[in-house]
Amino acid sequence: MTDCFEAVKACSVSGAILRKSEGESRVREINLQDVTAVGVCIAAAVVCGFLRGGEQRGGLDDLQLEPEDRPAQRRAALALVLTLALAWSGGACGTELAQGAEPGTPAKVSPPAWLYPVNPAHDIRPEPDPQAIRRVPGSAARYTNAQVDDLFIAPDWHPQEHGSAPAVVSRGRPPETYACGYCHRVTGAGAPENSHLAGLPAAYIRQQVEDMRTGARRSSHPGRIPQDYMAVVARSASDAEIDEAALWFAAQAPVANFRVVESHLAPSVHIEDWKLMADRPLRRAPLGHRLLELPDDPQDFTSRDTRARFTVYAPIGSVERGRLLAQHAGTTGCAACHGPRLQGMGSAPPLVGQSPSYLLRQLVDFGTGARHGPQAAAMIAVARALSMDDMIAAAAYAASLSPSTRSSAR
Ligand code: HEC
Ligand code: HEC
Repeated sequence: MTDCFEAVKACSVSGAILRKSEGESRVREINLQDVTAVGVCIAAAVVCGFLRGGEQRGGLDDLQLEPEDRPAQRRAALALVLTLALAWSGGACGTELAQGAEPGTPAKVSPPAWLYPVNPAHDIRPEPDPQAIRRVPGSAARYTNAQVDDLFIAPDWHPQEHGSAPAVVSRGRPPETYACGYCHRVTGAGAPENSHLAGLPAAYIRQQVEDMRTGARRSSHPGRIPQDYMAVVARSASDAEIDEAALWFAAQAPVANFRVVESHLAPSVHIEDWKLMADRPLRRAPLGHRLLELPDDPQDFTSRDTRARFTVYAPIGSVERGRLLAQHAGTTGCAACHGPRLQGMGSAPPLVGQSPSYLLRQLVDFGTGARHGPQAAAMIAVARALSMDDMIAAAAYAASLSPSTRSSAR
């Protein structure tokens, strides 16, 4: 419910109400869209107030985490009205924001803690038995916990699905060239805490590693192990190794191993090994202005199975808002550079098939200037024009598209 009021407040602040209060001269600029946005914001506020009089929980039937919590039919109907009103007002406000800032203006966002998870100082989880055997569905392979946690092993659960990976991908080279496939998975299927590499153009992969070597590409949140270790690998791997890895990952078929669910609620989460994981037993919590990408099966995910799947929770209306943003004709229209289906074009990499939480971190990193490689100027201007809600919408939209149309150009 707090979320409902926050949404109305954000809508009002970013929409016409604020502009109206900015002075007489601005009032004349208000157009029909602004009037609609105000109307919808007020309607949403009224429904919010009504709902607040009732119980403090919204409806979320698609999650079905706790069936006993299903709200009464009357409240569900009201929640639907609210959802539509907010989605509509979100769309109106989103169009407004997408046309926003001039290039060169400061970033609108600072890195949110939920997007850059940091391990708690005292992890009280019991150490798993290093010799215990792990298995995953559909595979005859066996790995011990110790092997799955070894930075010089990329577990290969389904070797029949691909050719023989180069040594730098499957084993790495001690002491500091960790196996690319340990983090990115052997086929580059990727994970929310790193990046999907399958099907990225080889030249783009080389350039990014080079940017990490020179420090032109960093994280907005230094000190997080996944990014820091990537930087160590970038500096310690030889050019020949990066070249082999780039050609290998570029030749793998990209997979969108996630599905997008738009919702007011999502599982409550905690941090394990720099990753967000759903609490067990599952509990619902307001999603708010966040995008969460959570493994469907923690066991497959932590076993680094390339077939592991994820559910992406995004606020209601995100995909449509992202579509408007992507197809927008102005300077921030993603499709103009990334291709009509965000399949990648020229120096702009594919966004389809990429982990949406990774995409979101990159948008923030462009916005803060932490990522400023030689090809990044256009993206820095774009990211600085976007609000966090725009970024979430763009990432959710990209995640809703199929990567089968990705460019085959290398
Ligand atoms: C310890 C984990 C780890 C290992 C090992 C690792 N990476 Fe990464 N890699 C990451 C993370 C985390 C990111 C995301 C960085 C960020 O958020 O800026 C990343 C990002 C990348 C990107 C950027 C992708 C994009 O879409 O821009 C490339 C390219 C890349 N890695 C290549 C490699 C190669 C090649 C290897 C092996 C030589 C490797 N990585 C090994 C963790 C790792
Ligand atoms: C003017 C051209 C242009 C526009 C418009 C544009 N991009 Fe980009 N984008 C690029 C280029 C070029 C890169 C590669 C930057 C680099 O190599 O550092 C990039 C990189 C990215 C990345 C990093 C991908 C990765 O794998 O690390 C993300 C995320 C991204 N863009 C999202 C967007 C979104 C979302 C929009 C629309 C809101 C957008 N871009 C609009 C040109 C553009």
